[in-house]
Amino acid sequence: MVSRKDKSLDFVVLGGGIAGMRAAIDLAQGGGVLVLTKDDLYESNTEYAQGGIAAALSEDDEVTLHRHDTLQAGDGLCREEAVRVLVEEGPQQIQQLIDWGMRFDRNGTKLAFTREGAHSRSRVLHAHGDSTGSEILRALMAKARALPNIQLQPHAFVTDLIREDGKVCAVSYLEPSATSPQTIHAGAILLATGGLGHVYKETTNPSVACGDGVAMAYRAGAVVRDMEFVQFHPTALFVKGAPRFLLSEALRGEGAYLRNLLLERFMPRYHEAAELAPRDVVARAITLEMQKTRAEFVYLDLTSLDPDHVQKRFPRIFSTCMKHNIDITTDLVPIRPAAHYAMGGVATDLYGATSLPGLFAAGEVASNGVHGANRLASNSLLEGLVFGARAAAAMLIKQPAAAFPSPSLKAGVAASTHAASSAPPGRTEIEKTVELARGILWDKVAIIRDGKALTEAVTRLGGLSLPEPLPPSRPAHEACNILTVARLIARCALAREESRGAHYRSDFPLKNNSKPPRHSYVSRNSAPYFE
Ligand code: SIN
Repeated sequence: MVSRKDKSLDFVVLGGGIAGMRAAIDLAQGGGVLVLTKDDLYESNTEYAQGGIAAALSEDDEVTLHRHDTLQAGDGLCREEAVRVLVEEGPQQIQQLIDWGMRFDRNGTKLAFTREGAHSRSRVLHAHGDSTGSEILRALMAKARALPNIQLQPHAFVTDLIREDGKVCAVSYLEPSATSPQTIHAGAILLATGGLGHVYKETTNPSVACGDGVAMAYRAGAVVRDMEFVQFHPTALFVKGAPRFLLSEALRGEGAYLRNLLLERFMPRYHEAAELAPRDVVARAITLEMQKTRAEFVYLDLTSLDPDHVQKRFPRIFSTCMKHNIDITTDLVPIRPAAHYAMGGVATDLYGATSLPGLFAAGEVASNGVHGANRLASNSLLEGLVFGARAAAAMLIKQPAAAFPSPSLKAGVAASTHAASSAPPGRTEIEKTVELARGILWDKVAIIRDGKALTEAVTRLGGLSLPEPLPPSRPAHEACNILTVARLIARCALAREESRGAHYRSDFPLKNNSKPPRHSYVSRNSAPYFE
């Protein structure tokens, strides 16, 4: 049984999204599991996932087609074995979820599938129309709550991983009611802290997505991979002063068009799949059209679709847009791209083992190679399920750490990721630093990059500082994590001198085809290197 008094458990899971909860359910077979979430239990990227979860389950689909589409979208950088695991184990994981009470939308008794960009089949399952992640989380939470070995603790913000004799054996965390950080030991620790969209000024992610997991693993000495690959979702609602609410790719899957300010439908000029081209292609096309028309946005046009169907199929999107006085069935909807998903993260093997003994990672925080340079739409919830379950299996048998390529002698030493200021800034100074970092990333390290802007970003981010020691507060630690991750993204983007998937450099517009594609690696002790 779980005992909190001795502050030691069999397993600690950081994060309550799909990967963390899926893992916790299996870990409960092996002992006490504590799930720590930094905010409310349900406040994660999973809760807000709209479009759905992809799996080759329809009658006209095959896992080999799903595999092919995933590899194509990944633009040469996917780890083929990871993709095979994803598409082959995905269907059984989804069946398991259904057995636990997940209610996907159906046509009669059959599962209903929709289409999204770069999928050759309609294979995206959804729930309550556009609230897929929320329904998945409901089902997983219900299952977890029925298991006495699992304890859920919201509002526990983990600040650092603690290593003893090289092994990650504990975490330090802040609770709102405690006056000092708490420590909890565990036999194995799973990082399932989700994404990092909030590192950018414009993002579809909730404000909890600060890259905490990547930052704390990096500080602890873990190897981090492919940080330059950040996916920008093409269609975030553009209303000044409002958060960039996601307008699911499924809207385009159902037939919505993109139009520039001159009302021209422009996507057929950029790609044969038009609005359903891979996300990186659509996001770049929108950016170029915005530049050409000197506009801050383009339009998403659903007016040719049946209004009743649109309202029923996308109730959350319909009602959210209505709050901004936009009726998506009759009005053109102003949109522009926003940071959405990190393909890179803490390097893991196919069972979530990181380079540090005792530390595992799954979900968006992890980089197991499944997404390559550009994630196929709706593969991320599937990844959370499949690799969350795999990480649990590895933790149960105490799998050792994974090995990753080391830097050659040419790679330099790491740049500092935490510059201390002489006069410790107060809370508002910390907020200003965060604003600056997020603005630099958005202006210099976003959809279309070049060496000059990236060099400037690296320099300016390197010059930002935070108080030393950090005050024991969540905002201060989030600021430190944002700055750490921003610097990692900028440095890796500068180091990769080619264009591939979501990483587009106007000064290196082509893929480097002279060698097999290489991943970028970076750690506390080394500058970015490629293998
Ligand atoms: C969407 O609904 O467009 C987002 C789904 C995803 O990012 O995979």
